[in-house]
Amino acid sequence: LNEFCDSGIGLGESKCGISLSTSSSKILIKGGTVVNAHREEVADVYVEDGIIIAVKPNIKVPDHVTVLDATGKFVMPGGIDPHAHLAMNGLGMETVDDFFSGQAAALAGGTTMHIDFVIPVNGSLTAGFETYIKKAMKSCMDYGFHVAVTKWDEVVSKEMEIMVKEKGINSFKFFLAYKGVFMVNDELLLEGFKKCKSLGALAMVHAENGDAVYEGQKRMIELGITGPEGHALSRPPSLEGEATARTIRLASFVNTPLYVVHVMSIDAVEEIARARKTGQRVIGEPTAAGLALDGSGVWDPDFITAAKFLMSPPLRAPGHDKALQAALSTGVLQLVGTDHCSWNSTQKALGMNDFRKIPNGVNGIEERMHLVWDIMVESGQISVTDYVRVTSTECARIFNIYPRKGAILPGSDADIIILNPNSSFEITAKSHHSRSDTNVFEGTKGKGKVEVTIAGGRIVWENDELKVVPGSGKYVEMPPFSYLFDGIDKLDAKYLSSLKAPVKRFKSTA
Ligand code: URP
Ligand code: ZN
Ligand code: ZN
Ligand code: ZN
Repeated sequence: LNEFCDSGIGLGESKCGISLSTSSSKILIKGGTVVNAHREEVADVYVEDGIIIAVKPNIKVPDHVTVLDATGKFVMPGGIDPHAHLAMNGLGMETVDDFFSGQAAALAGGTTMHIDFVIPVNGSLTAGFETYIKKAMKSCMDYGFHVAVTKWDEVVSKEMEIMVKEKGINSFKFFLAYKGVFMVNDELLLEGFKKCKSLGALAMVHAENGDAVYEGQKRMIELGITGPEGHALSRPPSLEGEATARTIRLASFVNTPLYVVHVMSIDAVEEIARARKTGQRVIGEPTAAGLALDGSGVWDPDFITAAKFLMSPPLRAPGHDKALQAALSTGVLQLVGTDHCSWNSTQKALGMNDFRKIPNGVNGIEERMHLVWDIMVESGQISVTDYVRVTSTECARIFNIYPRKGAILPGSDADIIILNPNSSFEITAKSHHSRSDTNVFEGTKGKGKVEVTIAGGRIVWENDELKVVPGSGKYVEMPPFSYLFDGIDKLDAKYLSSLKAPVKRFKSTA
């Protein structure tokens, strides 16, 4: 992938087996079961110039239209990954997957849009945004951005406003972990939540208690536990539970919707479940890795094998994975991300003598759709319509781009996959499309395979071959005030009126 991804050359054959031709702009998908989050039906889907024109049985088209036979297969909205880090800088390095290779991998796995995280430059959101817009120029599928907020002053407050009103941003991420780097305190969190609420932007949190993690890391080093397992031991589930509970309560205090990213533990799930039971608007996002793996990998005697599993929050002890699956199937958690943040072995090896120097992150952008199908649908835990909801539609609704994205409906973008439930997949670093030399799902086999991916009306994945064009992906602006904000004003009014019965006090006679 590397040679051509970086050169961004034009059409032709590349050395790495990725051909660069574009396909017909008129496509008819015949006879498949079209699945939306609200229903499934046997129908044809007709696409012209990147847009879905018609969804109904027996569509007749002229000869020059490309016809794909989807009989016996599912035709579904392309996946939307709400959480990935492409071309992210950390510990003085950059992740191996950039906006081209990461998205090419995504397309090979049936994901047609991702939302990345703008990391501020010296605290500046504007500088961070400009940097990421440049990184994303080589995109081969559509993408959007969340923006992280890592410090607080009048400038940042104003920049949040500019991001929402002029730059197509409708969500901000606050890190409660990574002390001394990204971590924010409760005062900043409250200011940020208030600002998010006033702008109609969704507040997102990385929920781990960063002060306690710092303490836990010192404890492990003092005990001489310097290997990858020290990472997991230094930040137990209780610290994720604490931070999840705290942010949920602060979001409730401000009365603004909250999105908890990469929910990894039972402890966090229980806090989210409790809040949702009281009616609070809290969204929880498990990751592909969290659903598919447990944390035993970091105990592997081989350092490189152990280090590849290292992420924050850590993959947990066996049992947490099953609890996350159950929470997804019962609606306590609503959509699946990946937190794709891929480093190769040489980068991970920088922390050989100290787990604090191992770059955090695992892969998943290519594997998410297959893993969720196998773990959740094939196992009988969720329906096919729910699969579409948790991999695509709910993300589009939360980030306010539905039904342009997340649906197979006339007028929607032609981001479509054809999944064959009778075929199978196998994951290995040898055949994956990420630039990473390892894969945390190495050797995983399962049922169901994405045989065709259509992105922006182009067939980009067919017969196990990618046909991707750098620069063809578009930036998707996401408007504020999603459905999560409906009625927030009424709840505020109710709260205010509850305060307006002042206690009548008589002048003391004493
Ligand atoms: O380990 C992780 N998750 N790396 C990416 C940054 C983050 O916290 O999401
Ligand atoms: Zn290449
Ligand atoms: Zn995070
Ligand atoms: Zn992340």
